[in-house]
Order: sequence, then C-alpha cells, then structure tokens
Amino acid sequence: MDTTLTLAPALIAKYDQSGPRYTSYPTADRFHTEFGEAQYREAAARSNAAGGPLSLYFHIPFCNTVCYYCACNKVVTKDRSRAAPYLARLHKEIALQAELFDRGRVVDQLHWGGGTPTFISHDEMAALMQVTREHFSLRDDDSGEYSIEIDPREAGPDTIAHLRWLGFNRISLGVQDFDPKVQRAVNRIQGVDETLAVIDAIRANEFHSLSMDLIYGLPHQTVASFAATLERVIDLQPDRLSVFNYAHLPERFKPQRRINESDLPSAAEKLDILKMSADKLAAAGYVYIGMDHFARPDDSLAIAQREGHLYRNFQGYATHADCDLVAMGVTAIGRVDDTYSQNSRDMDEYMAAIDAGKLPVVRGLRLTKDDCIRRAVITQLICHFALYFGAVDRSWGIRSQDYFADELVELRAMADDGLLTLNEQGIRVLPAGRPLIRNICKVFDAWLHGSQDATRFSRVI
Ligand SMILES: C[S@@+](CC[C@H](N)C(=O)[O-])C[C@H]1O[C@@H](n2cnc3c(N)ncnc32)[C@H](O)[C@@H]1O
Ligand code: SF4
Repeated sequence: MDTTLTLAPALIAKYDQSGPRYTSYPTADRFHTEFGEAQYREAAARSNAAGGPLSLYFHIPFCNTVCYYCACNKVVTKDRSRAAPYLARLHKEIALQAELFDRGRVVDQLHWGGGTPTFISHDEMAALMQVTREHFSLRDDDSGEYSIEIDPREAGPDTIAHLRWLGFNRISLGVQDFDPKVQRAVNRIQGVDETLAVIDAIRANEFHSLSMDLIYGLPHQTVASFAATLERVIDLQPDRLSVFNYAHLPERFKPQRRINESDLPSAAEKLDILKMSADKLAAAGYVYIGMDHFARPDDSLAIAQREGHLYRNFQGYATHADCDLVAMGVTAIGRVDDTYSQNSRDMDEYMAAIDAGKLPVVRGLRLTKDDCIRRAVITQLICHFALYFGAVDRSWGIRSQDYFADELVELRAMADDGLLTLNEQGIRVLPAGRPLIRNICKVFDAWLHGSQDATRFSRVI
C-alpha cells in the first residue's frame, strides 16, 4: 500500500464538506437521555458474559491557562486546590464502576486525558493510580498500553520519572507549533527548551512510545513557519505524530472567539501547509496512517495497519481490538458491550451524582444491528482504506451489494472522480481519496442522511 498522503486540490475542493471524525459510530451527538445508569449497568452485565480485557479512560479536566484554539472539555483555573474535591469523586466513581466488571478482566489499556492530567500534584497522581489498582486488575509487567497526555509547560523531568514509576509507558505530548508569533496568538507560550527537557526525560525513563500533537491552520502560520516547526519535530524523532487541522468553530468553542479570524491562513494556504507537511514527513520516513496521523514504520500503529488489525476509538487509532472502554470522570465517554455512554458534562451535576452513590451516566445509546454493521464498515474503511464485501457478509449475515445498494450508487460517483475503486469484491480507497476518508465514510452514516448541519462538524482542510 502507498503509505504517503496524496493531496489532489480539485477533489478536495469538490468533496471537502464538513463531516464527523468517526471516533464513534453513531457519533456522540446522537446519544440520548433515555439511556442512563440502568441501561449502563445492563450493558456491563452483558459485557461480563462476553468477557475479555478492559480499557480504562480517566478525564482530568483542569488547565492552568486557556489555549484559544482549544476544543477539549476543560476547566481553566489557577487554583490547584480545585482538583482535590474532583479527585475524591473520581475515586468513588472508580469504586462504583469496578463493582460492575469482573475482576478477572485485565486492563490492557489505560489513558489519562484532559484538560491537562499533570495539573494535579504528584501525590494526587499516585493516589489515583493506587485507587485504580485497588479496584481493577492492572498489568504490573509493563505489557499494557498505559498512556497519558502531557503539556510540557505542566510537567518537568521529575513528573515524567514519577509517571513512569506509576506504570505509564506511553506519552502523547502537546506541541502545536514552536513559532513564538503563533504561540502568542493562541495564548500558549511554550519554549522549545522546556519541550526538549521533557523529551529527554521521556527517553531517559524508557517510555515505549512518544507521540506529538501539532496543529495546522492556526493564526499567522505560513508554509515556511510551519516547515520550521516540523523540521524541529522530525529531529526529535517521535514514534507517532498527529497533525490536526485547526477546527475553527467559535460558535461552539468560546475561547476561539479570541482568535482574530483575519490572522488565520486561507484554505489554499492551509492546503499548502498540509502538502508541505505530508512531503516532509514522507521524506523523513513516516507512514501516513490516516485522519491526521503519521507513524514511523516500526511503530505498532503502522505495523497493525500493515497486518490488518488497526482499530479506532475515542483516542483515535488503536492497536487493540474492541475492548470494553470504561470511561470515568466528568464528560467521559465509554463503550461497553453494544452501547456508548457519557458522563455528565457539568461538574456540579457530576459530583452530585457521585455523592448520591449513583453513576453519573446522563446519556448514551444502544446500537442496533444496523448501527453495528455500519460501524464495522466505517472502522474498516478508516483504518485500512479498503472493504471486502465477503468479510462483511460472513460476519453479519447480509449481502453487502443489496444491503448497501443506495450507498454504492453514491460511491460510484466517487469512483468516477478517482477517489476509490469499486467492484464485486469490495471498495479500495485510492491515494487521492485517503485525505477525504471521512467524506467516504459519511456515505455509510445512516444517521447523517437528511440531517446535514454544516456547522456541527469540522472540515478536512
Ligand atoms: C487535551 S489536549 C492535549 C493535552 C494538553 N492539555 C496539552 O494541551 O498539551 C489534546 C490535543 O487536542 C488538539 N486540539 C485541541 N483543540 C483543537 C482544535 N480546535 N483543533 C484541532 N486540534 C485541537 C491539540 O493538538 C491538543 O494537543
Ligand atoms: S490545548 Fe491542552 S492545555 Fe490548552 S486549553 Fe486545551 S486542554 Fe488545556
């Protein structure tokens, strides 16, 4: 398979409408409030009958300052004491959740996300991990994928050593852009030296994997300025790299209103920045995984893609099959058995539910068989850029050619434009179609049809 990112401007201009990123299908905006604690408990019971390992997610929402571009769920405060009452509830939620899952189910994956997980003190980190170990069966031989999001402004080398000692072995580092002018415009002043010090500590403590986040499309970015950032980043040799498209949705994300729209690069400039990035990363040996993600060819994501067992979940691409995901903390989204569920997005409501001894699940969804089939198809396309009808038919007892007759008509137009090839055997996405993969997946999204809302989702470029 061609492992570079190819950009065809005419096709991007034609097909680049807004669309979901499919970290779940159906997408989170389809969750409803008739799904609550009772339905979640039933799903957990069904998941125990099936068994298998677990994935745990913990949301730590606090940030010391706000980055104006940020679309994450966060609480901005300089008051570190705000973490303690939240963490007390999180400890209780761990106990409540753990009661629902068989103790024999080993935790293969664990992730702390945010916000900024290292906003909390070293003692608070140790206590959170200790409570998790008391209630769930964590691997203690360093063989699980235990990862954390790090903001280098909020973690010195001592924090990195502490996290390794607590059992983390993977780090995802927020960089975004090294250019001081860009950093000032987004209120994220992050010195190169402090980032380097953290990376040195990650290497010294023998973390298994280092991933870095960059964003293109931020104010004042140019091809030349972003090339300079990228060259520095490539020199640091991260195993994985996310090059996110800045999604400017000021109606939805209030801090983005502080970004001056006239400072943003035009769509044409953004495309040039992305092209330059794709070329530079290919020249440096990085493989294009899909949807903003690149990896070194020896990284487990690239290997999983080559071997045909790459998956997608709320954290993006993953090497593990569909583990049940138990998500804890305010706003956290879980995936248990054939359901998705989300905790309250309101801090007071989240804490009140826990204080009342209840799980804070406020909405969710139980997938129908049709949802499951479409999720499998979308996952396969997003992860492997190919779909074999025979495999879908065997797994689900359908005949894809009939089941997706309407979708195939739509796909034929995409085939005529050179985005993909389509025959009796299945679908193969061509290099020019890969950056537009979410537009291809949208064809299979039964929930989206007839309800297009252009402002709800971001665009590819
Ligand atoms: C929770 S943050 C990472 C952890 C930590 N708070 C930090 O900033 O370093 C997750 C990542 O989402 C990305 N991100 C946030 N808002 C975004 C937006 N509006 N468009 C694209 N990427 C965004 C950033 O690359 C960021 O590193
Ligand atoms: S990018 Fe990270 S540090 Fe900045 S506001 Fe968002 S979550 Fe907080």
